[in-house]
Amino acid sequence: MLRGSSVLVTGGSGFIGSHVVDRLLAAGHRPRIFDVRPSPYHPDVDAVEGDLDDLEGVCAALRGCDAVIHLAASADVNEVFADPVDAERRNVRGTLHVLEAARRCDVGRVVYASTIWTYSDTTADRHEESMPLSPPAHFYTSTKLAGELYCHSYAELYGLEYTILRFGIPYGPRARPAAVVPAMVGRALAGEPLTVAGDGSQSRRFVYVEDLAAGVVRALDPVAVNRTYNLVGDRDVTIREVAETVCAVVGDAEIDFVPGRTGDFAGAPVCGERAAEELGWRPTTAFEDGVRRYVAWRQEAATPVVVTVPARERVVTALMRRSAWALGWALVTAVLFVGLAVLIPLDSDLNRYNTFFSVLLLLLPLWLAGGFRWEEPTASRLRAGLWGAAVVSLALALVPWPAAVDVGSGHATLLVLLAVAAGGAERLVETRIALPTWLGASGG
Ligand SMILES: NC(=O)c1ccc[n+]([C@@H]2O[C@H](COP(=O)([O-])OP(=O)(O)OC[C@H]3O[C@@H](n4cnc5c(N)ncnc54)[C@H](O)[C@@H]3O)[C@@H](O)[C@H]2O)c1
Repeated sequence: MLRGSSVLVTGGSGFIGSHVVDRLLAAGHRPRIFDVRPSPYHPDVDAVEGDLDDLEGVCAALRGCDAVIHLAASADVNEVFADPVDAERRNVRGTLHVLEAARRCDVGRVVYASTIWTYSDTTADRHEESMPLSPPAHFYTSTKLAGELYCHSYAELYGLEYTILRFGIPYGPRARPAAVVPAMVGRALAGEPLTVAGDGSQSRRFVYVEDLAAGVVRALDPVAVNRTYNLVGDRDVTIREVAETVCAVVGDAEIDFVPGRTGDFAGAPVCGERAAEELGWRPTTAFEDGVRRYVAWRQEAATPVVVTVPARERVVTALMRRSAWALGWALVTAVLFVGLAVLIPLDSDLNRYNTFFSVLLLLLPLWLAGGFRWEEPTASRLRAGLWGAAVVSLALALVPWPAAVDVGSGHATLLVLLAVAAGGAERLVETRIALPTWLGASGG
């Protein structure tokens, strides 16, 4: 996909999605997040808060995008086990809405996040993308497989291009605390014994999340059209090995063995050769290095100073930057309009200096609306205020007021222009023009 492409990332506020957004930015693309919650990691990235349930909302978010990377889902197998109806709503109907919105908006590609759990009930020594699958036991797997089937049908019926990615077990910074590596690290850091399900000999194809995100972005390449890829680590790691690695990185801890979970993926080897050959993608982070990076991130995130002092500094820096931006913009336009004002008086009642200040007044709503990124509910209030200003200005200019309140007669042209400026500015709030990244509140 061409550099600078616009890509919607559903679930972009989540664990894998946030890394995909990082990778898209690094590759020079323009990500837009679609999620039910704001991103804790990318406050400056274009974002739409919405639910996959709302087909019109998904369409609106997708409009103008070149591709969608669809990650939003109920991704925790225990949550799915506890509430299968909600999992069906998010994983199955949600995927259908993404595909339908992509069809309606003529979006070039849907990249769908599936899982190697699709192989969990297939008896084979080695799992490849082309092999026939068996009906899954776990409902989570059924919902993800349904999404894969919908991708195929949309390609057949409507010619919508897809890429299916079956992820290995991701781990790394920002992971959900309940996942296996975070849970073990958490216990080890707290000085508690590590819990291993079964005898610990069952293995997993873990994949370090930053490597995984790189693979997801590679899947936007034309070669991946209507293809399925396993994105997995380069070797199996047993659960016992996970516990031992965590002990080695964090420090000594005891290991407790407990019964296995219902429907858990038994862990046959999954082959990543197709992704290597066609996408040129291989994971590059060794398991122990990945665990080290996760532990470092977790310790950094737990350091109180990171949360308080820099946050205040960030706000001050952002305010200074935004003020500089507003001042610079005002100066440029003032210089331009001084020139204009010298040449063309705006209204027969205004001299050139009054005209200059009037033009600044006309620009005020445009600066307000277009110079900043307004979030709801402030954006709605601003829009209402701008409409109010437009209506009042028009009323003052056009209504034949009695002599006692004859406000408009002197500056009718100016008031009409002010109404137009306020109305035009209202549209700018709608388009939510974002400040360039360097002006953003967090600086990263
Ligand atoms: N984490 C894993 O172990 C794993 C393994 C294989 C595949 N996957 C798949 O990768 C994808 C991302 O997983 P993750 O681990 O980053 O999960 P996550 O829970 O961290 O992120 C999912 C995001 O989707 C959002 N979301 C959920 N329902 C939504 C809805 N109805 N509308 C809009 N947004 C919604 C959530 O707010 C969240 O930010 C999922 O599709 C998952 O099935 C995950």
